[in-house]
Amino acid sequence: MTARQQPKNLWIGRWGFVLAATGSAVGLGNIWKFPYMTGEYGGGAFVLVYLACILCIGIPAMMTEIAFGRRGRGSPIDAVKRVAQESGRGKIWSGFGWMSMLAGFMILSFYVVVAGWSLAYLWKALSGGLQGGSVDDMAAIFGANNANPLSLGAWSTLVTVVTMCIVGKGVQEGIERNMRWMMPGMVLLLLVMIVYAMFSGGFGEAVTFLFSFEVGKLSSAGLLAAMGHAFFTLSLSAGAIMAYGAYLPDNKSIARTTFTVAICDTLIALMAGLAIFPAIFANGMDPASGPGLIFMSLPLAFQQMPMGSVLQVIFFVMLSVAALTSAVSMIEATVAWLTERKGMSRKAAAWSSGIVLWLLSTLAMLSFNLGADWTLAGKNFFDWLDYLTSRWMMPLGGLGLCLMAGFLLRDEIFRDELRLARWQHALWLLMVRYVSPLGIVLIFIDALGVMSIDIGSQWPWFLAALVVITVLGEMLSPRVKQQFTG
Ligand code: TRP
Repeated sequence: MTARQQPKNLWIGRWGFVLAATGSAVGLGNIWKFPYMTGEYGGGAFVLVYLACILCIGIPAMMTEIAFGRRGRGSPIDAVKRVAQESGRGKIWSGFGWMSMLAGFMILSFYVVVAGWSLAYLWKALSGGLQGGSVDDMAAIFGANNANPLSLGAWSTLVTVVTMCIVGKGVQEGIERNMRWMMPGMVLLLLVMIVYAMFSGGFGEAVTFLFSFEVGKLSSAGLLAAMGHAFFTLSLSAGAIMAYGAYLPDNKSIARTTFTVAICDTLIALMAGLAIFPAIFANGMDPASGPGLIFMSLPLAFQQMPMGSVLQVIFFVMLSVAALTSAVSMIEATVAWLTERKGMSRKAAAWSSGIVLWLLSTLAMLSFNLGADWTLAGKNFFDWLDYLTSRWMMPLGGLGLCLMAGFLLRDEIFRDELRLARWQHALWLLMVRYVSPLGIVLIFIDALGVMSIDIGSQWPWFLAALVVITVLGEMLSPRVKQQFTG
């Protein structure tokens, strides 16, 4: 058994970790993806399923990730390796750390492109470039924005540079210090938008849309999307939360911080819905208009409202800040690894990973113009990055960490780190051993297309499978039961 690692870096402030992790969690996923997914998958029904996924899959997985990070006190690669070694397992398990780090890097390389859209739109909003009379006009603006590789590249380069400046300054001086103003600032802007929405029509409809639950609208596609999104929105299995967890002081409760972050993330996603949908409804638009929702429908809706141009600016500032705080977290794992293992300074590590990132993100950016037909199996480079990370690497990483924590590694490690009451620990174990893995396997089955999943009619089978697997698992390796019997 190796001795517990001493921390090299720790969050200074009481809210350091919560701010940084919430900053990571709240991003384009909350403001761009969540509202349009809710629109597509039928409103309240989707919201409910999503909440269940956060609770049953996201929260236990996040606790596991933070526990790995704090126990191993290092970049995800080293953290996973040390925790494995502490349980007498080989280095090979650090493969999951590698995959997380790589996933974070790959996500970032297309995330900066989307964050670049946000900055470009902020500029357009400021300079009056978002004028148009119809959704088609807005689509034309969006198209023109993507068609020019030079300007599109310039915006994503700007995002990359700002990210690297923050990360290069270090954990406390760079990340923590900036999160202290960026996060409250972002929430403030969101609140301004909600207050505006309350008085400008469409608010009631938006509330009904988000919170009225219609069983008939529940769909398997919605459930699977909600499961995948639970990982994405909490920044799980991509090294970010584990890297931040490595800086969490020993006296902090992992469970409490996890719940705080998950609740903040969910509240902000719902608040984003309350800021966006009223304008959409007030102008009689379709909430299910897909990824173009905030770049096409929303600017058009704002244009037709009093003070709309101010609101547009507020919205895109908020979106850009949200995207930046997430971008920072995605590169932290790589930078931590380079400083720890390659002996680089923070600055050198940030800039060298920045250059590699810039090359990859340029390829992703070109998918929208020059490289639109550099496709493989019908997907361009941007689509591949998204597909590989969100459909494969993140679920696989999540599955690996959950099963490692649940079956392979010494339970004392997690009891030490999580410090839960017995029944709570048993519940956590139940989730990481059976519930999350089964959910993730469903995501894989769906991605592979080997079987069409229709939860509506097949749910008794899934429930039965869960029970059988749990009973078998507990007969072969009785850990959950031990929690109760001591
Ligand atoms: N959670 C962020 C969002 O909702 C995205 C994100 C940040 C992320 N860091 C991540 C996703 C790490 C996966 C992994 O926009």
